[in-house]
Amino acid sequence: MILVTGCAGFIGSNFVHTWLSQHDEPVVNLDKLTYAGNLDNLSSLANDPRLVFVQGDIGDRALVDKLLADHQPRAILNFAAESHVDRSIHGPGDFIQTNVVGTFNLLESVRAYWSALPAAEQAAFRFLHVSTDEVYGTLAPQDPPFAETNPFEPNSPYAASKASSDHLVRAWHHTYGLPVLTTNCSNNYGPFHFPEKLIPLVILNALAGKPLPIYGDGQQVRDWLFVTDHCHAIARVLEAGRIGETYNIGGWNEKANLDVVNTICARLDQLRPRADGKPYAEQITFVKDRLGHDRRYAIDARKIERELGWRPKETFESGIEKTVQWYLDHPEWVQGVTSGEYRKWIGKQYG
Ligand code: NAD
Ligand code: TYD
Repeated sequence: MILVTGCAGFIGSNFVHTWLSQHDEPVVNLDKLTYAGNLDNLSSLANDPRLVFVQGDIGDRALVDKLLADHQPRAILNFAAESHVDRSIHGPGDFIQTNVVGTFNLLESVRAYWSALPAAEQAAFRFLHVSTDEVYGTLAPQDPPFAETNPFEPNSPYAASKASSDHLVRAWHHTYGLPVLTTNCSNNYGPFHFPEKLIPLVILNALAGKPLPIYGDGQQVRDWLFVTDHCHAIARVLEAGRIGETYNIGGWNEKANLDVVNTICARLDQLRPRADGKPYAEQITFVKDRLGHDRRYAIDARKIERELGWRPKETFESGIEKTVQWYLDHPEWVQGVTSGEYRKWIGKQYG
């Protein structure tokens, strides 16, 4: 079986759904269930015997040691992290604790487990670390997209904490021989995306008649990838990636934030027109820029295509269509995540 950390978050839960739709191999899930972790994301699998869920912290050595000894996974996929840039600006402490110290503790538990495996199992074992393109810093408009050879130049506390974790993973391979793989992916979107991030926030604010907040001039560029494409890429890297290598994953979909928001508004105008017949784009509101806001991210995803034959299937238009429709079709999920803690965050960030 495989062990997936952070399985109740956005990408982790999508990965578990994708994996179990294609494999019979069981999944042990470890998640601390922070504000971003939501078991509703896995509710359709609640009675699936291939799924074991354990609530806990990746940094809890005793718990992780026991999990590894009990379940003997052949691979570990580490999705668990604090993941929201704006929260890292308000409070970087949790990011250092989970992304840096937590990853260190996880690596130490995994190293002890892996070292004691019989030779054949040791050789087949993999530790796959899921990371972000934000470790590379920011690009000017004419710069080539990020390649795996770009230096790390993280600019936010989030990006710095993820860069640190990537360095730890690299060092555990180089020094101890742990068979690691690292993926650095661009911005994801799709089902189960917690609505503090741009795309789900805009869909839900639009439907609720609230302002659609655009930071600064809205000309910051991100390279958007539909989450299922990311999940397929991770499965492919696990299957055939070269040990010790990193693979950049991206959508070949660079878009300015304002264009993203206008695309969502146009889809909503067709699928769920406003009662007053006016366009949703009228709700767009320019707000104060994010501190240290990175101007542009873009991924050169040629290595994973050349070595592993992966390319994204969705275009931005097809992915946004599916995403908007998913939020319209799941009001009870939305209801569950937009109460309590979520309201506190929205009040703090947007006033
Ligand atoms: P998320 O915030 O939606 O989910 C993170 C999950 O990790 C949550 O379920 C949370 O409860 C869990 N978690 C947090 N701290 C934990 C801890 N100490 N121990 C165990 N579980 C813990 O994040 P996401 O968007 O699904 O991102 C998953 C991974 O992918 C992260 O490592 C992130 O850096 C990376 N990534 C995200 C994106 C993106 O666009 N969202 C892009 C590239 C890479
Ligand atoms: P986000 O979804 O937070 O992802 P990241 O910061 O990891 O790229 O933000 C995507 C882009 O959208 C980023 O340039 C910041 C911008 N943004 C807004 O303009 N308004 C918002 O309310 C949010 C949450 C983000």
